Amino acid sequence: MKPRYKVLPSTRVAGEITVPGDKSISHRALMFGGIANGTTDITGFLAGEDCLSTMRAMQAMGVGIERPEDQHVIVHGVGKDGLQGAASPLDMGNAGTAIRLYMGLLAPQKFDSTLIGDESLMRRPMERVAKPLRLMGARIETVEGRPPVKIHGGQPLRGIDYSLPVASAQVKSAVLLAGLGAAGVTSVTEPAPTRDHTERMLEAFGVKVTREGAKASLAGGQSLQATDVVVPADFSSAAFFLVAGALGADDGLLLRNVGINPTRTGLLDMLKLMGADIRVHGRPSAGEPLADIEVRRSALKGVQVPLDLVPLSIDEFPVFFIAAACADGETVVRGAHELRVKESDRLAVMADGLTALGVRNELLEDGIRIQGRGGTTPVFEGGTIDSHGDHRIAMSFAVASLRAKAPIEILDVANVATSFPGFVELARQAGLQIDVA
Ligand code: S3P
Repeated sequence: MKPRYKVLPSTRVAGEITVPGDKSISHRALMFGGIANGTTDITGFLAGEDCLSTMRAMQAMGVGIERPEDQHVIVHGVGKDGLQGAASPLDMGNAGTAIRLYMGLLAPQKFDSTLIGDESLMRRPMERVAKPLRLMGARIETVEGRPPVKIHGGQPLRGIDYSLPVASAQVKSAVLLAGLGAAGVTSVTEPAPTRDHTERMLEAFGVKVTREGAKASLAGGQSLQATDVVVPADFSSAAFFLVAGALGADDGLLLRNVGINPTRTGLLDMLKLMGADIRVHGRPSAGEPLADIEVRRSALKGVQVPLDLVPLSIDEFPVFFIAAACADGETVVRGAHELRVKESDRLAVMADGLTALGVRNELLEDGIRIQGRGGTTPVFEGGTIDSHGDHRIAMSFAVASLRAKAPIEILDVANVATSFPGFVELARQAGLQIDVA
């Protein structure tokens, strides 16, 4: 039987917590380390299933990787022309970032590759990446737009000047990575800012990336020089505790060492608009910006989410919807159609879950309206939620237990391990009453 959570109502969270390493940064550190010259030392690595899929794929293509500790990885780079074709299809598991970034990395290689994944990944759109790569000269096949993705190697690629039709860091990153192996300059212009970990980390590996407003460009043929990567705690994992703290931290909850790259922290702005008491204490850092974040219980009010915050908080909406249900008045999110093509259709699955727990909401094509109920009395009825195997849905409804009248059962939670190993233990440490069955 698939594992499930049983979460009993609780009312308080407290303490100091360090959530695991950033998923986006861990994927990139492995990939860039693999094609760099020299040895890349990664600390704070996210030992989640998604990043382990990326790691196994690198190993299958001949990259030597040591892992002296769970969160310490040493990558022996093979250089930009050193990867070898894998003997069998590369299995990306649940990881959308892995499959899309590998499409870009593998398109200019001399060998063929096939990329597959789990049930959820095999349903997700890949043409958004295949299309621009084909414009560069790549030969890529998808099956009705979805995996398996077959990449025919040995194609000479040329740089393009590409305007992204959707705000997607994965597509942007794939095109830039293909650009490293293309002739001439490759440029990507995004319709709205998305996470810029690829641009930042390529620069740290010695690649010259030009950034002018919404456009990032690089010249093909550049080599990567190995470097040390210190991975911050994942803001997207901290998000569950930020909302938990806003709902139940009378004496404050402190999240340590969190990555606060401004292309990731839209949730802070959304919660502050709602009236949450959040204090960000910056920490010195040589790479990605870092902070300790303190959050306290506060009365929340419903908001209209500004459109420009949507791409900056794209992974945090499931738990933001829980905050919205506990806010006084209506919250409206629009312009979030991308949520429909994540690990699950996050708009539909969250709307169903909220309805199952007695929260009035209206599902929109590109968003949701949620009728929140402020105050300190319970908001959620007890009930059963189907997470549809989506890690962020599962963790979000665990946070709802802070305003629940009765136990909440959450089905199909195994994929929490893709992004947040140790979630249950940390949630218990903070004060949630959560059991795995
Ligand atoms: C990611 C980009 C986002 C995000 C995903 C990680 C990345 O996807 O949802 O979890 O690491 O580049 P899109 O760029 O497709 O929106």
